[in-house]
Amino acid sequence: MAAEPALLAYLGLGSNLGRREAYLAAAAARLAAAGARVLRASPVYETRPQDVPAPQPDFLNAVLEVEWPGAPEELLQRALAVEELYGRVRPAGADGAARPEPAPRTLDIDLLLCAVPGDGAAGGQLLRREEPALTLPHPRLGARAFALQPLLDLLPAETAAAWLGAGAAARAAQLAAEQGVRPWGPFPQWEPDVYTPESLLPPQRLRHVGTAVRCLETTASTNDVAREWAAAGAPAGAVVVAEEQTRGRGRRGRGWHTPPGAALALSVVLRPAWPPERLTLLPLAAGVAVARAAARAAAVRCGLKWPNDVLVQGRKLAGVLVEVLGPDPAAAGVIVGIGVNLNLPRHRFPPDVRARATSLLHESGGPVARPAFARSLLAELDALLDDLDRRPEAVAGAWRALSVTLGREVEIVHGAETVRGRAVDIDAAGALIVDTGAGGRRLLAGEITG
Ligand code: BTN
Repeated sequence: MAAEPALLAYLGLGSNLGRREAYLAAAAARLAAAGARVLRASPVYETRPQDVPAPQPDFLNAVLEVEWPGAPEELLQRALAVEELYGRVRPAGADGAARPEPAPRTLDIDLLLCAVPGDGAAGGQLLRREEPALTLPHPRLGARAFALQPLLDLLPAETAAAWLGAGAAARAAQLAAEQGVRPWGPFPQWEPDVYTPESLLPPQRLRHVGTAVRCLETTASTNDVAREWAAAGAPAGAVVVAEEQTRGRGRRGRGWHTPPGAALALSVVLRPAWPPERLTLLPLAAGVAVARAAARAAAVRCGLKWPNDVLVQGRKLAGVLVEVLGPDPAAAGVIVGIGVNLNLPRHRFPPDVRARATSLLHESGGPVARPAFARSLLAELDALLDDLDRRPEAVAGAWRALSVTLGREVEIVHGAETVRGRAVDIDAAGALIVDTGAGGRRLLAGEITG
Protein backbone atom coordinates (compact mmCIF):
# COMPACT_ATOMS: atom_id res chain seq x y z
CA MET A 1 0.00 0.00 0.00
CA ALA A 2 1.38 3.41 -0.93
CA ALA A 3 2.26 5.59 2.05
CA GLU A 4 0.07 8.65 2.65
CA PRO A 5 1.86 11.80 1.44
CA ALA A 6 3.19 13.94 4.27
CA LEU A 7 1.06 16.95 5.11
CA LEU A 8 2.22 20.50 4.86
CA ALA A 9 1.05 22.21 8.04
CA TYR A 10 1.24 25.73 9.45
CA LEU A 11 1.38 26.20 13.19
CA GLY A 12 0.84 29.55 14.88
CA LEU A 13 2.98 30.11 17.97
CA GLY A 14 2.42 32.68 20.68
CA SER A 15 4.01 33.54 24.02
CA ASN A 16 3.44 36.41 26.45
CA LEU A 17 5.04 35.12 29.63
CA GLY A 18 8.68 34.64 30.62
CA ARG A 19 11.47 34.59 28.04
CA ARG A 20 9.04 34.66 25.15
CA GLU A 21 11.54 34.04 22.35
CA ALA A 22 12.90 31.01 24.22
CA TYR A 23 9.39 29.52 24.28
CA LEU A 24 9.02 30.03 20.51
CA ALA A 25 12.40 28.35 19.92
CA ALA A 26 11.48 25.53 22.30
CA ALA A 27 8.21 24.95 20.44
CA ALA A 28 10.11 24.42 17.17
CA ALA A 29 12.69 22.27 18.97
CA ARG A 30 10.11 19.99 20.56
CA LEU A 31 7.92 19.72 17.47
CA ALA A 32 11.02 18.62 15.57
CA ALA A 33 11.72 16.09 18.32
CA ALA A 34 8.15 14.83 17.93
CA GLY A 35 8.65 14.05 14.25
CA ALA A 36 7.61 17.27 12.51
CA ARG A 37 10.12 18.38 9.88
CA VAL A 38 10.32 22.12 10.35
CA LEU A 39 10.79 23.56 6.88
CA ARG A 40 10.68 27.27 7.61
CA ALA A 41 9.88 29.76 10.34
CA SER A 42 8.34 33.17 9.77
CA PRO A 43 9.77 36.33 11.27
CA VAL A 44 8.53 37.11 14.77
CA TYR A 45 5.92 39.80 15.43
CA GLU A 46 5.04 41.54 18.65
CA THR A 47 1.34 41.88 19.24
CA ARG A 48 -1.07 43.59 21.59
CA PRO A 49 -3.08 40.83 23.28
CA GLN A 50 -6.28 40.01 21.36
CA ASP A 51 -9.34 38.23 22.78
CA VAL A 52 -7.85 38.05 26.30
CA PRO A 53 -8.63 40.11 29.40
CA ALA A 54 -6.41 43.17 29.82
CA PRO A 55 -3.94 44.00 31.14
CA GLN A 56 -1.54 41.42 29.81
CA PRO A 57 1.97 41.60 28.40
CA ASP A 58 2.36 41.78 24.63
CA PHE A 59 2.72 38.51 22.74
CA LEU A 60 5.46 37.34 20.47
CA ASN A 61 3.95 35.48 17.52
CA ALA A 62 5.33 33.48 14.61
CA VAL A 63 4.31 30.69 12.27
CA LEU A 64 6.13 27.45 11.50
CA GLU A 65 5.81 25.56 8.24
CA VAL A 66 6.23 21.85 8.92
CA GLU A 67 6.01 18.58 7.07
CA TRP A 68 4.04 16.09 9.12
CA PRO A 69 3.92 12.38 8.29
CA GLY A 70 0.52 11.64 9.88
CA ALA A 71 -3.00 12.98 10.29
CA PRO A 72 -3.65 16.60 11.32
CA GLU A 73 -5.36 15.40 14.51
CA GLU A 74 -2.10 13.73 15.55
CA LEU A 75 -0.14 16.88 14.87
CA LEU A 76 -2.60 18.85 16.99
CA GLN A 77 -2.16 16.35 19.83
CA ARG A 78 1.62 16.72 19.63
CA ALA A 79 1.29 20.49 19.67
CA LEU A 80 -0.93 20.36 22.76
CA ALA A 81 1.59 18.08 24.47
CA VAL A 82 4.32 20.64 23.75
CA GLU A 83 2.18 23.42 25.26
CA GLU A 84 1.61 21.36 28.36
CA LEU A 85 5.25 20.40 28.74
CA TYR A 86 6.12 24.05 29.19
CA GLY A 87 3.55 24.72 31.80
CA ARG A 88 0.51 26.01 30.01
CA VAL A 89 -2.32 24.77 32.16
CA ARG A 90 -5.29 24.21 29.90
CA PRO A 91 -8.69 25.37 31.09
CA ALA A 92 -10.75 22.70 32.81
CA GLY A 93 -13.19 20.91 30.53
CA ALA A 94 -16.76 19.76 30.79
CA ASP A 95 -16.29 18.26 34.25
CA GLY A 96 -17.89 21.28 35.85
CA ALA A 97 -14.67 22.83 37.14
CA ALA A 98 -14.34 26.57 36.64
CA ARG A 99 -12.70 27.63 33.40
CA PRO A 100 -10.12 30.28 34.23
CA GLU A 101 -9.96 33.36 32.07
CA PRO A 102 -7.25 33.08 29.41
CA ALA A 103 -4.22 34.12 31.44
CA PRO A 104 -0.79 35.09 30.14
CA ARG A 105 0.71 32.01 28.62
CA THR A 106 4.19 30.70 28.21
CA LEU A 107 3.28 28.98 24.97
CA ASP A 108 0.20 28.75 22.82
CA ILE A 109 0.15 26.70 19.61
CA ASP A 110 -2.64 26.71 17.02
CA LEU A 111 -2.91 24.52 13.97
CA LEU A 112 -3.78 27.10 11.32
CA LEU A 113 -3.78 25.27 8.00
CA CYS A 114 -2.99 21.88 6.53
CA ALA A 115 -2.56 20.94 2.88
CA VAL A 116 -1.68 17.92 0.80
CA PRO A 117 1.29 19.27 -1.13
CA GLY A 118 1.61 19.33 -4.87
CA ASP A 119 -1.98 18.41 -5.58
CA GLY A 120 -4.80 20.60 -6.84
CA ALA A 121 -4.51 24.34 -6.35
CA ALA A 122 -1.17 26.12 -6.24
CA GLY A 123 0.79 25.00 -3.18
CA GLY A 124 -1.36 21.92 -2.66
CA GLN A 125 -4.87 20.90 -1.76
CA LEU A 126 -6.13 22.67 1.36
CA LEU A 127 -7.60 20.33 3.97
CA ARG A 128 -10.91 21.17 5.58
CA ARG A 129 -12.14 19.78 8.87
CA GLU A 130 -15.30 20.54 10.88
CA GLU A 131 -14.93 18.48 14.04
CA PRO A 132 -15.45 19.42 17.66
CA ALA A 133 -11.72 19.05 18.39
CA LEU A 134 -10.35 20.44 15.14
CA THR A 135 -11.55 22.99 12.61
CA LEU A 136 -9.37 23.61 9.57
CA PRO A 137 -8.52 26.21 8.46
CA HIS A 138 -8.42 27.65 11.99
CA PRO A 139 -11.80 29.40 12.49
CA ARG A 140 -10.34 32.71 13.66
CA LEU A 141 -7.40 32.84 11.27
CA GLY A 142 -8.97 35.45 9.00
CA ALA A 143 -9.59 37.85 11.90
CA ARG A 144 -6.23 37.58 13.67
CA ALA A 145 -3.40 39.53 12.17
CA PHE A 146 -0.88 38.01 14.60
CA ALA A 147 -1.40 34.66 12.84
CA LEU A 148 -2.34 35.85 9.36
CA GLN A 149 0.61 38.20 8.89
CA PRO A 150 3.41 35.68 9.66
CA LEU A 151 1.53 33.00 7.72
CA LEU A 152 1.47 35.23 4.66
CA ASP A 153 5.22 35.78 5.05
CA LEU A 154 5.65 32.06 4.36
CA LEU A 155 3.18 31.57 1.50
CA PRO A 156 3.88 32.39 -2.13
CA ALA A 157 1.30 34.93 -3.38
CA GLU A 158 -0.43 32.37 -5.63
CA THR A 159 -0.78 29.89 -2.75
CA ALA A 160 -2.05 32.60 -0.40
CA ALA A 161 -4.67 33.63 -2.95
CA ALA A 162 -5.77 30.02 -3.50
CA TRP A 163 -6.01 29.18 0.20
CA LEU A 164 -7.06 32.45 1.80
CA GLY A 165 -8.77 34.28 -1.05
CA ALA A 166 -7.69 37.23 -3.15
CA GLY A 167 -6.91 40.30 -1.11
CA ALA A 168 -5.65 38.36 1.94
CA ALA A 169 -2.42 40.35 2.03
CA ALA A 170 -4.21 43.70 2.00
CA ARG A 171 -6.62 42.49 4.67
CA ALA A 172 -3.73 41.27 6.85
CA ALA A 173 -1.92 44.61 6.55
CA GLN A 174 -5.05 46.51 7.59
CA LEU A 175 -5.74 44.17 10.51
CA ALA A 176 -2.09 44.34 11.61
CA ALA A 177 -2.34 48.12 11.87
CA GLU A 178 -5.65 47.91 13.78
CA GLN A 179 -4.50 45.17 16.14
CA GLY A 180 -1.03 46.50 16.96
CA VAL A 181 1.00 43.80 15.24
CA ARG A 182 4.57 44.98 14.61
CA PRO A 183 7.78 43.31 13.39
CA TRP A 184 10.01 42.07 16.24
CA GLY A 185 12.88 40.19 14.59
CA PRO A 186 13.95 36.93 13.01
CA PHE A 187 12.82 33.61 14.47
CA PRO A 188 15.27 32.62 17.23
CA GLN A 189 17.96 29.97 16.77
CA TRP A 190 16.88 26.47 17.71
CA GLU A 191 17.91 22.85 17.28
CA PRO A 192 15.79 19.69 17.70
CA ASP A 193 15.22 18.95 21.36
CA VAL A 194 16.63 15.42 21.31
CA TYR A 195 19.75 13.82 22.67
CA THR A 196 21.73 12.05 19.98
CA PRO A 197 25.43 11.14 19.87
CA GLU A 198 25.90 14.04 17.43
CA SER A 199 23.92 16.60 19.43
CA LEU A 200 25.69 15.70 22.68
CA LEU A 201 29.28 16.21 21.68
CA PRO A 202 30.71 19.73 21.44
CA PRO A 203 32.59 20.68 18.28
CA GLN A 204 35.95 20.73 20.06
CA ARG A 205 37.66 17.40 20.70
CA LEU A 206 37.26 16.23 24.27
CA ARG A 207 40.05 14.33 26.00
CA HIS A 208 38.22 12.42 28.70
CA VAL A 209 34.53 12.03 27.90
CA GLY A 210 32.50 11.13 24.83
CA THR A 211 34.60 8.21 23.58
CA ALA A 212 31.32 6.33 23.03
CA VAL A 213 27.76 7.57 23.49
CA ARG A 214 24.47 5.77 24.09
CA CYS A 215 21.21 7.70 23.96
CA LEU A 216 18.18 5.95 25.39
CA GLU A 217 14.53 6.86 25.19
CA THR A 218 13.70 5.47 28.60
CA THR A 219 15.58 3.41 31.17
CA ALA A 220 15.42 2.65 34.88
CA SER A 221 18.67 4.49 35.67
CA THR A 222 21.52 5.65 33.44
CA ASN A 223 23.93 4.77 36.27
CA ASP A 224 22.75 1.16 36.05
CA VAL A 225 23.17 1.09 32.26
CA ALA A 226 26.64 2.61 32.61
CA ARG A 227 27.55 0.08 35.30
CA GLU A 228 26.56 -2.84 33.05
CA TRP A 229 28.34 -1.27 30.11
CA ALA A 230 31.48 -0.77 32.22
CA ALA A 231 31.38 -4.45 33.25
CA ALA A 232 31.06 -5.36 29.57
CA GLY A 233 34.15 -3.29 28.70
CA ALA A 234 32.89 0.24 27.99
CA PRO A 235 35.84 2.52 27.22
CA ALA A 236 36.81 5.24 29.67
CA GLY A 237 34.74 8.30 28.78
CA ALA A 238 31.66 6.37 27.62
CA VAL A 239 28.48 8.39 28.13
CA VAL A 240 24.89 7.22 28.68
CA VAL A 241 22.01 9.68 28.38
CA ALA A 242 18.31 8.98 28.76
CA GLU A 243 15.26 11.05 27.95
CA GLU A 244 13.46 9.50 30.89
CA GLN A 245 14.42 7.47 33.96
CA THR A 246 11.75 5.34 35.55
CA ARG A 247 13.81 4.53 38.67
CA GLY A 248 16.42 7.25 38.79
CA ARG A 249 18.59 6.95 41.87
CA GLY A 250 19.72 9.73 44.18
CA ARG A 251 22.19 9.71 47.05
CA ARG A 252 21.43 7.81 50.23
CA GLY A 253 18.87 5.53 48.62
CA ARG A 254 16.58 8.35 47.51
CA GLY A 255 14.88 8.48 44.12
CA TRP A 256 15.55 11.00 41.35
CA HIS A 257 12.74 12.31 39.14
CA THR A 258 13.51 12.38 35.39
CA PRO A 259 10.33 12.88 33.33
CA PRO A 260 10.65 12.72 29.53
CA GLY A 261 11.56 15.77 27.50
CA ALA A 262 12.49 18.01 30.42
CA ALA A 263 15.71 16.98 32.12
CA LEU A 264 19.22 15.73 31.64
CA ALA A 265 20.10 12.34 33.08
CA LEU A 266 23.64 11.46 32.20
CA SER A 267 26.22 8.93 33.38
CA VAL A 268 29.87 8.76 32.43
CA VAL A 269 32.14 5.73 32.78
CA LEU A 270 35.63 6.67 33.95
CA ARG A 271 38.66 4.49 34.69
CA PRO A 272 40.91 6.87 36.59
CA ALA A 273 44.31 5.77 37.88
CA TRP A 274 44.24 8.30 40.70
CA PRO A 275 45.15 7.92 44.36
CA PRO A 276 42.10 7.74 46.67
CA GLU A 277 42.45 11.35 47.85
CA ARG A 278 42.00 12.51 44.28
CA LEU A 279 39.07 10.22 43.56
CA THR A 280 37.12 11.86 46.38
CA LEU A 281 37.36 15.19 44.53
CA LEU A 282 35.48 13.73 41.58
CA PRO A 283 31.93 14.36 42.91
CA LEU A 284 32.89 17.95 43.71
CA ALA A 285 34.27 18.38 40.19
CA ALA A 286 30.98 17.16 38.74
CA GLY A 287 29.09 19.78 40.78
CA VAL A 288 31.43 22.51 39.52
CA ALA A 289 30.86 21.33 35.93
CA VAL A 290 27.07 21.67 36.32
CA ALA A 291 27.36 25.12 37.88
CA ARG A 292 29.61 26.32 35.07
CA ALA A 293 27.30 24.88 32.39
CA ALA A 294 24.28 26.57 33.99
CA ALA A 295 26.11 29.89 33.96
CA ARG A 296 27.20 29.45 30.34
CA ALA A 297 24.03 27.99 28.84
CA ALA A 298 21.38 29.86 30.85
CA ALA A 299 23.15 32.68 32.73
CA VAL A 300 21.99 31.14 36.01
CA ARG A 301 24.28 31.45 39.06
CA CYS A 302 24.48 28.29 41.14
CA GLY A 303 25.94 27.57 44.54
CA LEU A 304 27.47 24.27 45.63
CA LYS A 305 26.41 22.61 48.84
CA TRP A 306 28.99 20.15 50.11
CA PRO A 307 29.70 17.66 48.77
CA ASN A 308 28.00 18.06 45.38
CA ASP A 309 24.47 19.43 45.42
CA VAL A 310 23.93 22.22 42.91
CA LEU A 311 21.56 24.85 44.29
CA VAL A 312 19.97 28.04 43.07
CA GLN A 313 18.86 30.27 45.91
CA GLY A 314 18.69 27.29 48.24
CA ARG A 315 16.72 25.03 45.91
CA LYS A 316 18.22 21.97 44.28
CA LEU A 317 18.86 22.21 40.55
CA ALA A 318 21.04 19.16 40.10
CA GLY A 319 22.50 16.19 41.92
CA VAL A 320 25.51 13.97 41.45
CA LEU A 321 25.80 10.27 42.25
CA VAL A 322 29.32 8.84 41.94
CA GLU A 323 29.65 5.08 42.23
CA VAL A 324 33.01 3.31 42.44
CA LEU A 325 32.65 -0.12 40.90
CA GLY A 326 35.50 -2.01 42.53
CA PRO A 327 38.64 -1.79 44.63
CA ASP A 328 40.61 -0.82 41.53
CA PRO A 329 38.68 1.97 39.78
CA ALA A 330 41.22 2.07 36.95
CA ALA A 331 40.07 -1.43 35.99
CA ALA A 332 36.48 -1.78 37.24
CA GLY A 333 35.49 1.83 36.58
CA VAL A 334 33.74 4.71 38.29
CA ILE A 335 30.31 5.98 37.26
CA VAL A 336 29.62 9.70 37.48
CA GLY A 337 25.85 10.17 37.34
CA ILE A 338 24.51 13.69 36.92
CA GLY A 339 20.86 14.71 36.95
CA VAL A 340 19.88 18.28 36.04
CA ASN A 341 16.39 19.76 36.10
CA LEU A 342 16.30 21.71 32.86
CA ASN A 343 12.84 22.45 31.47
CA LEU A 344 10.57 21.46 34.34
CA PRO A 345 7.99 24.01 35.44
CA ARG A 346 7.87 23.91 39.25
CA HIS A 347 4.39 22.35 39.35
CA ARG A 348 5.69 19.29 37.47
CA PHE A 349 7.98 18.26 40.34
CA PRO A 350 6.61 15.56 42.63
CA PRO A 351 4.84 17.22 45.58
CA ASP A 352 7.33 15.88 48.13
CA VAL A 353 10.30 17.70 46.52
CA ARG A 354 8.53 20.70 44.97
CA ALA A 355 9.41 23.16 47.70
CA ARG A 356 13.10 22.20 47.67
CA ALA A 357 13.70 21.75 43.93
CA THR A 358 14.11 24.10 41.01
CA SER A 359 14.91 23.99 37.30
CA LEU A 360 16.74 26.12 34.78
CA LEU A 361 13.40 26.89 33.14
CA HIS A 362 12.12 28.31 36.40
CA GLU A 363 15.30 30.19 37.24
CA SER A 364 15.91 31.67 33.80
CA GLY A 365 12.28 32.35 32.88
CA GLY A 366 12.12 30.03 29.89
CA PRO A 367 13.22 26.74 28.36
CA VAL A 368 16.88 26.06 27.69
CA ALA A 369 18.15 24.13 24.67
CA ARG A 370 18.78 20.75 26.29
CA PRO A 371 21.37 19.39 23.82
CA ALA A 372 23.32 22.67 24.04
CA PHE A 373 23.29 22.42 27.83
CA ALA A 374 24.50 18.81 27.67
CA ARG A 375 27.34 19.78 25.30
CA SER A 376 28.35 22.54 27.65
CA LEU A 377 28.27 20.21 30.64
CA LEU A 378 30.39 17.56 28.93
CA ALA A 379 32.93 20.19 27.87
CA GLU A 380 33.14 21.56 31.45
CA LEU A 381 33.42 18.06 32.90
CA ASP A 382 36.16 17.24 30.44
CA ALA A 383 38.14 20.34 31.45
CA LEU A 384 37.75 19.49 35.15
CA LEU A 385 38.85 15.89 34.57
CA ASP A 386 41.92 17.34 32.93
CA ASP A 387 42.48 19.45 36.05
CA LEU A 388 42.08 16.36 38.21
CA ASP A 389 44.78 14.67 36.17
CA ARG A 390 47.24 17.55 36.17
CA ARG A 391 46.47 20.02 38.97
CA PRO A 392 43.81 18.74 41.35
CA GLU A 393 44.23 21.76 43.65
CA ALA A 394 42.47 23.80 40.92
CA VAL A 395 39.33 21.67 41.36
CA ALA A 396 39.22 22.29 45.10
CA GLY A 397 39.74 26.00 44.38
CA ALA A 398 36.91 26.07 41.83
CA TRP A 399 34.60 24.32 44.30
CA ARG A 400 35.48 26.79 47.11
CA ALA A 401 34.68 29.73 44.83
CA LEU A 402 31.16 28.38 44.23
CA SER A 403 30.51 27.03 47.73
CA VAL A 404 27.46 28.05 49.73
CA THR A 405 28.56 25.80 52.60
CA LEU A 406 31.85 27.33 53.72
CA GLY A 407 31.54 29.89 56.46
CA ARG A 408 28.15 28.56 57.57
CA GLU A 409 26.98 26.83 60.72
CA VAL A 410 26.14 23.30 59.60
CA GLU A 411 24.72 20.09 60.95
CA ILE A 412 26.04 17.00 59.22
CA VAL A 413 24.70 13.50 59.51
CA HIS A 414 27.64 11.15 59.20
CA GLY A 415 26.62 7.54 59.78
CA ALA A 416 25.01 7.35 63.21
CA GLU A 417 26.64 10.58 64.29
CA THR A 418 25.56 14.22 63.86
CA VAL A 419 28.37 16.76 63.71
CA ARG A 420 27.60 20.43 64.39
CA GLY A 421 29.84 23.39 63.82
CA ARG A 422 31.14 25.94 61.36
CA ALA A 423 32.20 24.67 57.92
CA VAL A 424 35.58 26.29 57.49
CA ASP A 425 37.14 24.71 54.41
CA ILE A 426 37.60 21.65 52.26
CA ASP A 427 41.00 19.98 52.13
CA ALA A 428 42.89 18.67 49.10
CA ALA A 429 40.75 15.51 49.03
CA GLY A 430 37.45 17.41 49.17
CA ALA A 431 36.80 16.51 52.82
CA LEU A 432 34.85 19.12 54.78
CA ILE A 433 36.65 20.68 57.73
CA VAL A 434 34.22 21.59 60.50
CA ASP A 435 35.13 23.66 63.53
CA THR A 436 32.96 22.14 66.24
CA GLY A 437 34.13 24.53 68.94
CA ALA A 438 35.84 21.60 70.61
CA GLY A 439 38.31 21.12 67.75
CA GLY A 440 38.33 20.50 64.03
CA ARG A 441 36.60 17.54 62.39
CA ARG A 442 37.37 16.22 58.92
CA LEU A 443 34.43 14.62 57.12
CA LEU A 444 34.90 12.78 53.83
CA ALA A 445 31.21 11.90 53.52
CA GLY A 446 27.94 12.96 55.05
CA GLU A 447 24.77 14.90 54.48
CA ILE A 448 24.27 18.48 55.55
CA THR A 449 20.84 18.62 57.10
CA GLY A 450 20.86 22.08 58.60
C1 BTN B 1 21.36 13.24 44.44
O1 BTN B 1 20.65 12.59 45.21
O2 BTN B 1 21.58 14.43 44.62
C2 BTN B 1 21.99 12.57 43.26
C3 BTN B 1 21.07 12.49 42.07
C4 BTN B 1 21.75 11.85 40.89
C5 BTN B 1 20.79 11.63 39.73
C6 BTN B 1 21.49 11.14 38.50
S1 BTN B 1 20.44 11.20 37.08
C7 BTN B 1 21.62 10.32 36.16
C8 BTN B 1 22.12 9.24 37.06
N1 BTN B 1 21.22 8.10 37.05
C9 BTN B 1 20.67 7.89 38.24
O3 BTN B 1 19.88 6.97 38.51
N2 BTN B 1 21.10 8.80 39.11
C10 BTN B 1 22.02 9.73 38.52
